[in-house]
Amino acid sequence: MRFLAVFLILLSVASIISAYRPVVLMHGVTTGSSAMNNLEKWIQEALPGIYVKNVEIGNGKLDSIFMDMNQQVEEFKNVVQSDPNLANGFNVIGFSQGTLISRAFIERFNEPKVNNYIGWNGPQAGQFGTPFVNIQWVDKLLTTLTYSDHVQDNIAPAEYWKNPFKIPEYLEKSIFLADINNEGEAKNQTYKDNISSLSNMILSYSINDKTIVPKESGWFGFYADGNTDNIVPLQQQDQYTQDWLGLRTLDESGRLHFFTTDCTHKDHPIEDYCKIYFTNYTLPWLQN
Ligand SMILES: *[C@@H]1O[C@H](CO)[C@@H](O)[C@H](O)[C@H]1NC(C)=O
Ligand SMILES: *[C@@H]1O[C@H](CO)[C@@H](O)[C@H](O)[C@H]1NC(C)=O
Ligand SMILES: *[C@@H]1O[C@H](CO)[C@@H](O)[C@H](O)[C@H]1NC(C)=O
Repeated sequence: MRFLAVFLILLSVASIISAYRPVVLMHGVTTGSSAMNNLEKWIQEALPGIYVKNVEIGNGKLDSIFMDMNQQVEEFKNVVQSDPNLANGFNVIGFSQGTLISRAFIERFNEPKVNNYIGWNGPQAGQFGTPFVNIQWVDKLLTTLTYSDHVQDNIAPAEYWKNPFKIPEYLEKSIFLADINNEGEAKNQTYKDNISSLSNMILSYSINDKTIVPKESGWFGFYADGNTDNIVPLQQQDQYTQDWLGLRTLDESGRLHFFTTDCTHKDHPIEDYCKIYFTNYTLPWLQN
């Protein structure tokens, strides 16, 4: 009996002084958490004993496409809030669509608190290009009836589809991205406060990404309104200069960081040739 008590005390002390902050992984669209298994292994090999939570939303692949993004954020919240190992906060790596789910969690809840937010190759400023999910009828709907209520409610990527030729319609009808990017007339101060409270935000895109269009969306770059000829970098957008989300605040205090890769989109959390980008540009942010 006494032995057991001592053992349990030692065990809880060990978990309190465990060297590394836990890390949460959030997968992308058309996949489940298994797409992040290799990344999970890389983390555990580099930081022995670290607690990694590889989140899957609903049933994975199908729900990632057909569940309302706002609902996916709720699910993410429920998973992280019900895990006692995350109660003191965590770092997060979101991949692709998962960058938006994890970022929206920070803006809307941030309880438990996120320390470093790492967004790999996300449609941060929007997506405008098919084939995207590689299901023909879904891709067709994304490019045609994007902003109808029915498509917004039922096809997740439609909620972050940003057609540069239909900006007023996007602002009025997007039930997710326009909101979490604070693009509407009424800005949500909580979103900005919560993003500003991050220790660091780390953003990447790949020069060889053919899935996220434009690829620079990973760094919040996007097409100018009304043309697709060139990309307006974040620093030249109202998003930044008017600091709608706190990105300028992060940048001016040295907390906004960027890197690029040369990996194919889906290879990032999976293939060995992409591991160097994890090691050089992500691992350092998991060590504090
Ligand atoms: C801002 O976002 C928070 C968190 O989602 C929400 O509770 C609040 O109602 C929003 N405020 C406005 C003005 O929309
Ligand atoms: C984030 O937003 C919520 C409200 O949605 C608020 O209760 C919380 O304190 C905020 N957290 C930070 C760190 O700003
Ligand atoms: C990764 O870091 C090593 C050591 O600093 C460096 O030699 C290498 O070029 C880096 N690779 C990439 C892809 O950044």
